[in-house]
Parts: sequence; C-alpha cells; structure tokens
Amino acid sequence: MPITEKDGKFYPDPSFSARAHVKSVEEYREIYRRSLEDPEGFWSEVARELFWYKPPEKILDYNFDTGAGEVFHRWFDGGRTNVCYNAIDRHLGTATRNRAAIIWQGEPDGDSKVLTYQMLHREVCRFANVLKKKGVRRGDRVSLFLPMIWHLPVAMLACARIGAIHSVVFGGFSAEALASRVKETESRVLVTIDHSIRNGRRFELKSIADEALAQCPLVRHVIVVKRTKDPCPWTNGRDTLWDDEMNAPDIGNDCPCEEMEAEDPLFILYTSGSTGKPKGQVHTTGGYMVYTYLTTKWIFDLQPETLYWCNADIGWVTGHSYIVYGPLVNGTTSFLYEGTPLYPRPDRPWELVERYRINVVYTAPTAIRALMRQGDDWPAKWDLSSLRLLGTVGEPINPEAWMWYYRNVGRLSCPIVDTWWQTETGGICISPLPGAWPTKPGSATFPFPGIVPRVADPGIDDPARRGLPMPANATGHLCIERPWPGLSRTIFGDHDRWVSTYFSQYPGMYFTGDGCFVDGEGYHFLQGRVDDVINVSGHRVSTAEVESALVLHEAVAEAAAAGMPHDLKGQGIYVFVTLKIGYEPSEALKKQLSDHVRKEIGAIASPDKLQFAPGLPKTSSGKIMRRILRKIAENKVDELGDVSTLEDAEVIKTLVSGKEKM
Ligand code: PRX
Repeated sequence: MPITEKDGKFYPDPSFSARAHVKSVEEYREIYRRSLEDPEGFWSEVARELFWYKPPEKILDYNFDTGAGEVFHRWFDGGRTNVCYNAIDRHLGTATRNRAAIIWQGEPDGDSKVLTYQMLHREVCRFANVLKKKGVRRGDRVSLFLPMIWHLPVAMLACARIGAIHSVVFGGFSAEALASRVKETESRVLVTIDHSIRNGRRFELKSIADEALAQCPLVRHVIVVKRTKDPCPWTNGRDTLWDDEMNAPDIGNDCPCEEMEAEDPLFILYTSGSTGKPKGQVHTTGGYMVYTYLTTKWIFDLQPETLYWCNADIGWVTGHSYIVYGPLVNGTTSFLYEGTPLYPRPDRPWELVERYRINVVYTAPTAIRALMRQGDDWPAKWDLSSLRLLGTVGEPINPEAWMWYYRNVGRLSCPIVDTWWQTETGGICISPLPGAWPTKPGSATFPFPGIVPRVADPGIDDPARRGLPMPANATGHLCIERPWPGLSRTIFGDHDRWVSTYFSQYPGMYFTGDGCFVDGEGYHFLQGRVDDVINVSGHRVSTAEVESALVLHEAVAEAAAAGMPHDLKGQGIYVFVTLKIGYEPSEALKKQLSDHVRKEIGAIASPDKLQFAPGLPKTSSGKIMRRILRKIAENKVDELGDVSTLEDAEVIKTLVSGKEKM
C-alpha cells in the first residue's frame, strides 16, 4: 500500500483508507463537527459500544473557569461499569475469547507466553482473589513495582476488577522515588519482582523495594514474582511468592467484578511537573475507559486481525493506555516486549516484527533515533511487510527521524501517526487518523474528535492579547478549551494543585505546558515544554526535582538544572552546581553528584553535563535567572541579550567561560 507524497505531505493509500475506521478528511470533519456541537450525544454513543451495569444518566458536567466556582469535570455520572469487565469478560461470549489478548516476549529469547482472553480471565480472577485474601478492598491503593512482564497487566486488571486503585511505579525508579509514591498512596500491598532483566543485565528490584519499604510501615504484604533462579532478600511473614499465592488451594478461578461508579478512580500515576514533588494523576473508570477505547480504535486503526505492538513501558502512561487498557477493551492483541530496542542487536525490533508478523508499531522518537544511528542495514535484513501503520509518541519527532522510520521501517507504505498527549490527558489528543489525514513530518496534525486545542498568546509583547489564539505559524502555549473524558480529574490528595497547575494560567482552559504552532493549513507542530520540565527520551523530569536531589548532597550549596539539546535523547539534563565552602570541584565529585541524583530519583534523571559554578545569576529578589541558564545549557550564549547592566554580569561571564572550558 504505497503512500503518495505531494507538496511535503504524505497521503494514505486509497486501499488503506477504504478499510479504515475513518476514511477521509471529509468524514473526519463531519465527526469532529458533531463531537463539538453535541459532545454529550457523541460520547454517549461511544460509551454505548461498551458494557455498563447501569447506563450513564448525565454525560458531562463541568466548570473550567476558576472565576466561576470549583474547577471540575465529571463524565457518565449515574453509570456503573467495570473496566476489567470491558477489557476481558465482554469478549468471552464472542470469538475474541480464543484470541491472544497478550503475547509476551521476554528479553531472553526462550521466554515467552501467550494469554488468550479466556486465559487472561483466569489469571486476573485468581490474582484478584489473592488481593482480596490480602485484605484489599474497593478504593484501596495497591502499588505495582514491576518491569515489562505479563504479570503487570494481570495485576492492574485484577485491581480494576475488585475496584482497587493501582499505582504503577516505573521499574527504573530509585528506592526514594518508590517510597514516596507508596507512602503517599498509603498502599498496604506491593507487588514486585526479584530481578528485572534489561540489556542482558539483572537489576535487583526486590532490594530496591526493600530499601523503600523500610520507610513504608503500612505495607504488610509484598507479593514477589520470581523472574530468575537467583536468591533475593526476603522478609518472612511479609513477602510471599506470586506463584505460591496463585496456586493456593483456596484461590478460585472466578472473581466477580465490582460495579464501579463512572467517576470512581481507576488508577494513580505519578508524573513530574514544573515544581518539585511528582503529581499523582487520578484517572477514573468511565471517562478513561471510553476515551482510550475510541482513541486506540481509530488512531491505530484496529482491525480484527491486528497484532499491535506499543513499545513503551507500562510504568508510564503510554503503557497504561496503549498497551493495556485501550487495546484490551478493544479486544485486540497487545504484544508485550520485555527488552530494549538495541539489545542483543540493533535489529531486535525488526526481527520480532518478522517473527510475529506484527502490524502496528508504536514507539518513541528516541528509540527511532537510536535505531537510525545504527544504520539502514539492520531493518533491511528483515521482512517487514506485515506492518501497516507506525506511530510515535512522547516528544517532538525531528523530520529526519520521521523520514527514516517512514522509509526504512514503513518501506514507503505505512502511514505514521505522530500522537501528542500527556499523562494528564489520559489518551491521545492530537494525531492523524491514518486513513483520513495526509501527514507532514514533524506534525501531530489535527485534534481528535472532542478536543478543542488553542495555541494561546502568552501575552509577552501585549498583555491584552494573553490567551487569544496566535496567528498561523506563530508559537504560543497549547491549551485545550473544553473537557474530554480522558483528562485526569485531580492530583491525588491535592485538588488545589491540579487547579492551579492546569487552570490558573489561562482561565477557562486546560494549560498543557507545551509550546505549539499551527501552520497555514491547520497542522499542529509541538515545540516542547514551556515550563521547567525537561523531556529526556520522552520521560518527564522536572528541573526542581533534580535540584532538590542535588542540594540534599552535603557538598552542594545551590543547584540549577536546565534542558539541553541532545542528539539521541531529544533533551539532556544540564546542571549548574555551587559548592559549599570547603569543597573543591573535581571529576570525582562530579561522578558522586551524578550517582547521588540517580540514587534519589533514578537513572533517567542523572545529569548529562555538570558544571561547577562559583555563583548563579539571580534577580534582585534573589530568584535564579533560569532564562539565562537555559540559554547557556542550550549553547546559545550569543542570545543572552545585554547582560552588562545586570548586577550579575560577572557571574554570567564566569559561567560562560566555565562552560567553554568544559
Ligand atoms: O511535551 C509533550 C511531550 O511529552 C509531554 C508529556 O509527557 P508524559 O506525560 O510523560 O507523557 C508522554 C506520553 C504521552 C508533553 O507535554 N510529548 C508527548 N507526545 C508528543 C510530545 N511532544 C511532541 N510531540 C508528541 N507527539
């Protein structure tokens, strides 16, 4: 199905469009118009495609205006459903019952497992019964600290089944990061693993969990998956094995689903914001389910035979929405891979595509750039003719990487969906519908039905224009004017912070924190964060988090972090560190500080560059001038403007010359 390229746009093949869920630009426009004119009618029709114990009574109720009372949105009120029922049980009465729900491939090639929907039902029911036996009840939080193994979706779905709220903690996080999440959610049960396997190495997750749990007295039960034969630390009375729990004689194969209210929380997932403490985004049952269901179906154009591979980690929102919930609620087959793209060789993904005849690949620009760097010969060796659609997510994709993906993986025949969204948004908000829209490299194209984006004028030149739409091709702040079912409802335990973070900048609208422009044809081009969030390989790290970690070190008086361009990761982390009196800069101390950040947060936050600075530029009120540090980190020292008049001119000169010496 070759794609036609004309005027820098890539048109889907007519045979692709003919079969697609949304077949043309005209059809998209019609659906989009309807979704805005009658959002309640639109979303209630989608909801009706799923199973409800009791149908919703009121589809939408909301207020986004801080001036008009409490900010909130509620969807499908009065409705009762269960996401696990929709992801599994709903399919058991159909031919989908015998379809693979999850095909898991371990990093070691011999490890794999297929779970049909029927088999998944059994595993999930049994684990739900294990959780109940541990005292977990509706509304309780359960923390899951697991890598990419099939037990993770089983545990998530088991929580959903009994109405418990899962909090998945990315397996690469440190003990500190895990502890703060377990404590904040007041989890009493943690599910973890002895070791995770990555790039041929073992990581001692159970040891990290134990270190974290030393700070979490509420946790009474730790259920441990055994991935390897090696011993791991053990606390009798608290720790038990997944297999032992699942095989206990009192664990039954059936477990009824709790009838959940539409607005009951489904999960909490932490993400970094522009201030220090990670925010626990709360996603709910009805709205999240309906939104991920429809976005997965239309954007990945799921067909009855589709084998779909989202190569993200379930520890991030992409894995929640587009490995677990979206695909399973659709009854499709979700391919789950434990390993990383370059190990053991840089053709691992393509070998898997050929072996399993995978139809859809969804991954991050960082992975594409890393694979691209290894050369065209690696994908060329494999039969990739099963692929019909490619996707990207997590960061802006540079047109060079887009073209490489299109040519070398898609072989000039697969539409690419560049999908923009966030942990907060629950699901994809801006993306092509692949049978409808011609694409442009580097553009996430158009809003999904129900989404009303606005590129708001930040009002820097003219404060009176603040919030008004920017003209074509001018970058402003991306906001969304209206609610949609997938948007998070609150930050766990801190609703005021949810309101102030997302609704105070541009009254009446959700503020995304991203820069964006729209070209003359209406295509959206995302430009990265406009706040103090650094996007490292598609993972959000806040400058404040890195700074708070650094100042915990005894040698550090003051620290500032900024994003810097990075060929592979998109953005890297650049930190400026002022030492306390009595400490001298040295390479050894640099390494110590890097390790310290890694220990406090995790490997994703470890600095790419660390510059010792005798002082940091400050405003007269003592605030660090981040604008200047950002420019230095970005190597744009000629764009600092005139700094000679500043009190701090000398500090800046020292910083610039210090950078040059590095
Ligand atoms: O800056 C945007 C970037 O990733 C941020 C959201 O990160 P997170 O909550 O971790 O979720 C990542 C996966 C949804 C956004 O604020 N981002 C995400 N997708 C894109 C993107 N930037 C440009 N293009 C995208 N397609």
